[in-house]
Amino acid sequence: MVKYLITGGAGFIGSNYVRNLLKNNQDVTVVNLDKLTYAGNLDNLKDLEGDNRYKFIKGDIGDAALVDGLVRDADIVINFAAESHVDRSIGRPDDFITTDVFGTFVLLEAARKHGVKKFVQISTDEVYGSTEGASFVETDPLMPSSPYSASKAGADRLAYSYFVTYDVPVIITRCSNNYGPFQYPEKLIPLFVTNAMDDKQLPIYGDGLNVRDWIHVVDHNDAVDFLIENGADGEVYNIGGGNERTNLEITSIILEKLGKPESLKKFVEDRMGHDRRYSVNCHKINMLGWQPQYEFKQAMRETIQWYEDNRWWWERIKSGEYLEYYRSHYKE
Ligand code: NAD
Ligand code: DAU
Repeated sequence: MVKYLITGGAGFIGSNYVRNLLKNNQDVTVVNLDKLTYAGNLDNLKDLEGDNRYKFIKGDIGDAALVDGLVRDADIVINFAAESHVDRSIGRPDDFITTDVFGTFVLLEAARKHGVKKFVQISTDEVYGSTEGASFVETDPLMPSSPYSASKAGADRLAYSYFVTYDVPVIITRCSNNYGPFQYPEKLIPLFVTNAMDDKQLPIYGDGLNVRDWIHVVDHNDAVDFLIENGADGEVYNIGGGNERTNLEITSIILEKLGKPESLKKFVEDRMGHDRRYSVNCHKINMLGWQPQYEFKQAMRETIQWYEDNRWWWERIKSGEYLEYYRSHYKE
C-alpha cells in the first residue's frame, strides 16, 4: 500500500489527480489536505464519498503541527496547494506569499524530518517569465513577472534547496496552462465558456495575441505519475501540451463550439505585467519516454461539452463569493 499526501486536492488539478490515482491504482491510500479557499470545492470530489482509501482533511499547509502528523504517515507528498490566479496576485499578493512560499517551506520541513520517499513540488512554466523567442529549457534563468509566478519561483527553488542541502528526494515540475473539467471559472477557458453559454461578454485582455501552451489536466497528472516512477531526485522537468495558441484562437474555438456570435468578444484593459508568451521545451521528459496523449481540438470540444453538461457545478460557484470578485475585477 502506497500512502499519498496530496495538498490542494480540492482544487482543479489536484482533484483530477486524486480521482485518477484512486481509479487507476488499487493499492494506494490518499489523504487530501486542503484549506478550502474560494478555489477549493468538495463538489469536485463528490464521487469519491464512500471510498475508504480516501480521506479529506480541511487544513492549511502552513499549519506546522497538522502538517507534521500528516507527512509522518505519508510515503509520497505532492504539493498542488497554492494560490493560483495571476489576476488575484496583482490585486492582493499577501496570500500568495503565505501559501505558495511559506506553506511549501512547512511541508518541506516535515518531509525532511520524516524522510518521505518522494516530494513532488508542482511548479509552473510561469517561473521562466515570457519569451518571444526560443522555448525555455530547465536550466534557463527564472524571470517571474507577477507576484504569483514569483511566489511559485520561490517555492520551486526552496524545494530544490531541500534536495541539495538535506537530501530530500524532491522532483519539481513546471507545467504549462491546463484545461479540463472542474477548473474554477476565473481562468480563461472556463470563464469564457460559461460566460458565452449565458450570452455574457468575453473580456479579452489587450490585443488577445498573448500565447499560452495548453495541456489537458489528465496529461499533466499522468506526467507527474510518470516522473515519480522515472524522474531523478533534485531534477526539474518541463511539461507541455505542444499546443501554443493565442487567446483569440481559444476564444474562437469556444464561440464556434457553442454556436455563439463573435459580438460576445470584448477587448478590455490589459492585465498589468501581462506575459506575452509562455513556451517550454519538453525534450527532457520526452527523452525519458513521456508524451501527452490528448488531441487538442477534440479535447477542447469535450471540455466545453463538460461545462455544458455540468451547469450545476459552475452555477453554484458563479452565484456566490465569485460574483463580488468578478464585478469588482471587471468593473461591471
Ligand atoms: P486551484 O486554485 O484550482 O486549486 C488550488 C487548491 O489549493 C484549492 O483547492 C485551495 O483550496 C488549495 N489551497 C490554497 N491555499 C491552501 C493552503 N494554504 N493550504 C491548503 N490548501 C490550500 O489551482 P490549480 O489550477 O488546480 O493549480 C494547482 C497547482 O498547479 C498550483 O500549485 C499551481 O501553481 C500549479 N499549476 C497550475 C497550472 C494551471 O494551468 N492551472 C499550470 C501549472 C502549474
Ligand atoms: O502557465 C501556467 C499557469 O497558467 C499557471 O501556473 C496558473 O496557475 C494558471 O492560472 C495559468 O496562468 P495564466 O495567467 O496563463 O492563466 P489565465 O487563465 O488567467 O489567463 C490565460 C490567458 O488569458 C492570459 O494571457 C490572460 C488571458 N485572459 C485571462 C482572463 C481570466 C483574458 O484575456 N481574459 C480573462 O478574463
